[in-house]
Amino acid sequence: MRILFAVLILAQLVFAADRLTLLPVPASAQTSGADFALANGFTIKTDGYSDARLQRAIDRAVRRMEARSVLVLARPSGAPAFIVACKSKGGDLPQLGDDESYSLEVTAQQVVLTSNTVVGAIRGLETLVQLVTPTSKGYVLPGVVIHDQPRFAWRGLLIDVARHFQPIEVLKRNLDAMAAAKMNVFHWHLSDDQGFRIESKKLPKLQGMGSDGLYYTQEQVRDLIGYAADRGIRIMPEFDIPGHSTSWFVGYPQFASAPGPYQIERRYGVFDPTFDPTRDATYKFLDTFLGEMAKLFPDAYLHIGGDENNGKQWTANPRIQAFMKKHRLETNNQLQNYFNKRLLVIVKKHGKKMVGWDEVLVPGLPKDVVVQSWRGLKSLDEGAKEGYGMLLSAPYYLDAMMSSQQLYLADPVPATSPLTAEERARVIGGECAMWGEELTPANIDSRIWPRNLAVAERFWSPANVTDVGDYYRREDAVSVQLEHFGLQHIAAPDRALRSLVGSSDVPAPVQVLMKYVEPYRLGLRHRLFEVRQTEQTPLTSLADVGNVDQPATREIVANVDRLLNDANFTAGAAGLQATFAELAQLDRSYPPAASGNPALEKAIPRAQDLAGLGRAGQEALTIINQNQAVSATWLSDHLALLDRAAKPTSGLNIGWLQSFRTLIFMAAARSQYDPLTQKQWREKVTADAAPKTVHK
Ligand code: ACM
Repeated sequence: MRILFAVLILAQLVFAADRLTLLPVPASAQTSGADFALANGFTIKTDGYSDARLQRAIDRAVRRMEARSVLVLARPSGAPAFIVACKSKGGDLPQLGDDESYSLEVTAQQVVLTSNTVVGAIRGLETLVQLVTPTSKGYVLPGVVIHDQPRFAWRGLLIDVARHFQPIEVLKRNLDAMAAAKMNVFHWHLSDDQGFRIESKKLPKLQGMGSDGLYYTQEQVRDLIGYAADRGIRIMPEFDIPGHSTSWFVGYPQFASAPGPYQIERRYGVFDPTFDPTRDATYKFLDTFLGEMAKLFPDAYLHIGGDENNGKQWTANPRIQAFMKKHRLETNNQLQNYFNKRLLVIVKKHGKKMVGWDEVLVPGLPKDVVVQSWRGLKSLDEGAKEGYGMLLSAPYYLDAMMSSQQLYLADPVPATSPLTAEERARVIGGECAMWGEELTPANIDSRIWPRNLAVAERFWSPANVTDVGDYYRREDAVSVQLEHFGLQHIAAPDRALRSLVGSSDVPAPVQVLMKYVEPYRLGLRHRLFEVRQTEQTPLTSLADVGNVDQPATREIVANVDRLLNDANFTAGAAGLQATFAELAQLDRSYPPAASGNPALEKAIPRAQDLAGLGRAGQEALTIINQNQAVSATWLSDHLALLDRAAKPTSGLNIGWLQSFRTLIFMAAARSQYDPLTQKQWREKVTADAAPKTVHK
């Protein structure tokens, strides 16, 4: 008995040590069980190359380890316990292809971090901070040997500051979080129809007339570049041309393809104003601007946009049409390709490599352009086959409000990829895209984090790291650690709800409603409101307060799955009962709680939908539990209920309707269940419940 007990304890210890809470998961990690006990006083020694950037990174890491352990680590005490052995500087600034590898060895006596470059050491320090673990014997670093390097060289986050301006401190805290997740490119979408967000000293009417005064000075830009470089992050600016360019023409209408005047665009979508690609003056203007920007931004890459040019101004302009005829350019695509080629000469002249969205991928595009796919894996694969360096963003649009799970499982080069090894190597990485239509400084963090962690791991960790359950365990822990940087992703939604309610005491029915709904994706959201959204729409409605990838949604999905896969029809049932009991009350409890508050009253129809689903869910569980047959109309009645709930009313999406649908089909087919054909039964229920369309 005692031996069994000892084996159990041992197994538990090994299990605990194996479950490191590292995100992204390192390429290899072997735990030893010989933990390093953290204590006040911790002598740090750099052994090999060191400089001020490395020292600052060590200091930041130690501060964060102190914050997590409530110990004073920075006070030297005794023999060196933490050795940072960095072999060389690497580049002055982070650049594509940096050696980001590192090794980290934690024994009971010491911690040794080894890297070839400062950037590698910076990555390893992030791992070290995540290792701090509380135990009943104090804080420890679990004994481990880690050898780590990224899977993809380009691991980016795009933030659109054109649709809504974001102050520098918002960008800084997001850069901190990117570094924590080992992301290494900040793609700064600096201009669009709704705003021109950077100071040009040579063409001051750009920001002077195109920004409402909301732009970054060159001094701020230089400061941010330094801040990012300290964290091993490159900054790539994007100036989106020839379309998405209204804000340029407010100050410089002469370079558009139709006469002005132009105003800053307040609406969202795709608009007509487009650069005139037929005039030399346009290229001279762009040369001046891009030359200035090329000096300001040290990164080798410059993004010229190139997406969503509707071509209407080109088609309507007889001079442009004549030009096309003369140059044998038959389509607007060909004209845009002509523009891109001339642009490429300018970009190269200023020492940069050009990046564009996948619309630039047309026959004749020079092979040294890097193409960023936002339209799908198909164009990524096409580009890689044709020889272009490729970046994937299509599945990683954060405004599409997908769950971490969906983002996590989208792989730039999935096992099913049709690409050869050589073509696969051309997929240099990818980027999450955070478009700015529905962002404020208050809600932006909650739209990026924690979901961006899922993509950070996909880009860094080996392709076979795909355990979603384990990802969520680590996401929760690391998401909380990100609050250290001042990120508002956890705090902001509650604060916004308190503000709408007008009290710190948010009524329970309002809390219940918000637990079970999520915001709609950007594309749908625009069609939901009686007044079309513009840049001036306050983003403080319940639809803005709600958060995506809610734990309650995940729980319903998991419980329905358990129920479907349990021959006894008991697994998951208790959790679903509790959920449905909570929901079934809402049509009685929510309206009085919302009464007198117009913003809350808007959600009464949704509360009624949720209550209907709650009661239907209770009914379905009883049918399943008691093996009842249902009446002929039961299924269609309940599907009608689902259809109502799927309609995008109130701005609040119900993210678990597909699982609910499965439950309804399970109930309807319960009496046909035969344990001998359990597998076929399950497959039939799943197939019958498959959605035609469920609004997301
Ligand atoms: C894009 O979403 N138009 C790049």
